[in-house]
Amino acid sequence: MSLSRLFSPLSFSRRGLCLVGKASQRSASTNDADNNRRVLITGGMGQLGTGMAKIMRNKYGNDNVILSDIKKPTQEILSQGPYLYADVLDIKHLNSIVVNYGIDWVVHFSALLSAVGELNPRKALEVNVDGFHNIVESSSFHKLRLFSPSTIGAFGPDSPKVLCPDLTIMRPRTVYGVSKVHMELLGEYYSQHGLDFRSLRFPGVIGADTEPGGGTTDYAVHIFHSVAKTGHYSCFLKKDTRLPMIYIDDCLRAAVEFMEFPSEALTQRTYNVTAMSFSPEELVEEMKRYYPKMRVDYEPDERKQSIAESWPQVLDDIRARSDWGWKPDYDISRMVKVMIEKIDPNSTL
Ligand SMILES: NC(=O)c1ccc[n+]([C@@H]2O[C@H](COP(=O)([O-])OP(=O)(O)OC[C@H]3O[C@@H](n4cnc5c(N)ncnc54)[C@H](O)[C@@H]3O)[C@@H](O)[C@H]2O)c1
Repeated sequence: MSLSRLFSPLSFSRRGLCLVGKASQRSASTNDADNNRRVLITGGMGQLGTGMAKIMRNKYGNDNVILSDIKKPTQEILSQGPYLYADVLDIKHLNSIVVNYGIDWVVHFSALLSAVGELNPRKALEVNVDGFHNIVESSSFHKLRLFSPSTIGAFGPDSPKVLCPDLTIMRPRTVYGVSKVHMELLGEYYSQHGLDFRSLRFPGVIGADTEPGGGTTDYAVHIFHSVAKTGHYSCFLKKDTRLPMIYIDDCLRAAVEFMEFPSEALTQRTYNVTAMSFSPEELVEEMKRYYPKMRVDYEPDERKQSIAESWPQVLDDIRARSDWGWKPDYDISRMVKVMIEKIDPNSTL
């Protein structure tokens, strides 16, 4: 089959018509009991999207989970399941996808993260605020369930540093944080008017299979790749900068369990979730069990360091644990072990 045929709009629209046909045989409701829910993931080519698609496709069926982004996918991603170009700044196109593909749930991952957001605040506002306006409007109009993650970056220097709770002072200093507080509040506002909006404040996400997208906690991924290749890493944060973190499997499982939880049993719409907190030097100590000769220099990047210092060091996620049963599987030692197994299988594990 020629490439132009593979990527032609016709092949997408034919697939779309076929899916709509199937969707129309089902009730139009977003019933919790319906295991064949159809999900749209926006910003799916980032750190979290492909892993989320894999988990959801296993649970809900391959064709029921549509990955989308503005980036051209690899052949590998195309071969794994439905993929669409979807710019969250184009509400007409978003609405057409929701209608043509019978979407029930949206997982909204499109965003510019903390460090890249500071390099281009105008663009960050466009994607994170205007993009969310389109998503929330479309989700509300079509009565979808919407999951849109927030972040520790929604907190600021006036928030508690240790055991920072769900409800507290939030005066973020980055455009990313401002856009995420806006997202949380607007989602909660729409939820008073019928939208099933849900958000989790993720800490730094650590995973081996995908590149992090320009956040302040990215060092905790880069260090594994760099040490496996060269035995050395130059860290952009000071060695004692402690931040909350989560291993990607826990992060994605939290999102799926939270999305599946009955709406009426949730006492709030936005929850903290966390799994561990550590500083670069504590991570290095743990990694030295596998790489005793590894070397790390600390060359703090002023911009990233000041972002990190404005965030809480430890999140309190007691409400997520008590309301819908959140519990992480990975602490720092288990996370380090699995990261090294994946990135450097030839190491002396
Ligand atoms: N990764 C983390 O450590 C972390 C921590 C806390 C919260 N989060 C949140 O989780 C979500 C996903 O994070 P991620 O790490 O996968 O982000 P990422 O930066 O890796 O990916 C974001 C994706 O959004 C896409 N995008 C940008 N502009 C777009 C547009 N106009 N339309 C559609 N897509 C567009 C990009 O192409 C990219 O693939 C984000 O909302 C982020 O704020 C992530």
